[in-house]
Amino acid sequence: MQIIDGKATSLAIQDEIKEAVTERLASGSKKPHLAAIIVGDNPASRAYVGHKIKACERVGFESTLVELSENIQEEQLLQEVEALNANQAIDGFIVQLPLPDHIDSQRVLEAVHPDKDVDGFHPINAGKLSLGLPGFQPATPAGIIELLKRYGIETSGKHAVVIGRSAIVGTPMTLLLSRNANPGNCTVTMCHSRTQNLQAITRSADILIAAIGRPHFVTADMVKPGAVVIDVGINRIPDATKKSGTRLTGDVDYDALSNMDGHITPVPGGVGPMTIAMLLKNTLDAAAS
Ligand code: GUN
Repeated sequence: MQIIDGKATSLAIQDEIKEAVTERLASGSKKPHLAAIIVGDNPASRAYVGHKIKACERVGFESTLVELSENIQEEQLLQEVEALNANQAIDGFIVQLPLPDHIDSQRVLEAVHPDKDVDGFHPINAGKLSLGLPGFQPATPAGIIELLKRYGIETSGKHAVVIGRSAIVGTPMTLLLSRNANPGNCTVTMCHSRTQNLQAITRSADILIAAIGRPHFVTADMVKPGAVVIDVGINRIPDATKKSGTRLTGDVDYDALSNMDGHITPVPGGVGPMTIAMLLKNTLDAAAS
């Protein structure tokens, strides 16, 4: 398999964004400013938000991290969201998911002003995406489209199979791949936990997107030789050879596929860094509008 290097592509996009920031500053505009709300101390969420803040520094954005207690009440959290909506200095912000169980996540996401919703999770932006209108697109599927574009992978008329139907990845991915655009124009099949004959479907995929959240779910016998395999999974599994005792792995059995013909994104270093690049791109667009 040929490796699709998400890390290098993300850094190239970040260089382009940095350039755009320099041009903004030269013409008298201010630095784009991204804020992130994090609730509680889920280590994975903390790490992701840390990467986002660090990337802001790299491209010359201002950033603000709003750290809130695991025990915060929903009303208080909504007030924090309102404060960011009202803060003219902030161009865009995200509420890192998952939120604690006692909070209605959907209510919180709907409180984010659509013009500052750089995660693209507000129903207004999700609706625009489904209608093919301009708006903020969720960063992970947008990053996958960007990878296909930058690697010159032909998508028109191809069969794309998306495994997973989440609002963050599977659903918007299906929409973006089926759009009359380049990349796009795929015939898309969306698979999920109730799909029958999954292997027969995945084996007919020219482009296979794995967004299930189960380590090594996609095995070699599920993949057609020559396919483009995009692994969205970030799973932590035990690994006695590591100091931490664990390592990150994707939804695809990477080692088993590596001798096949085709393309594959590694984990880490594939889709994850692209999510960050596209979040920055959305923030740049928010600052420009
Ligand atoms: N949790 C997992 N992925 C994401 C993401 O893209 N944005 C936010 N806000 N939370 C997440």
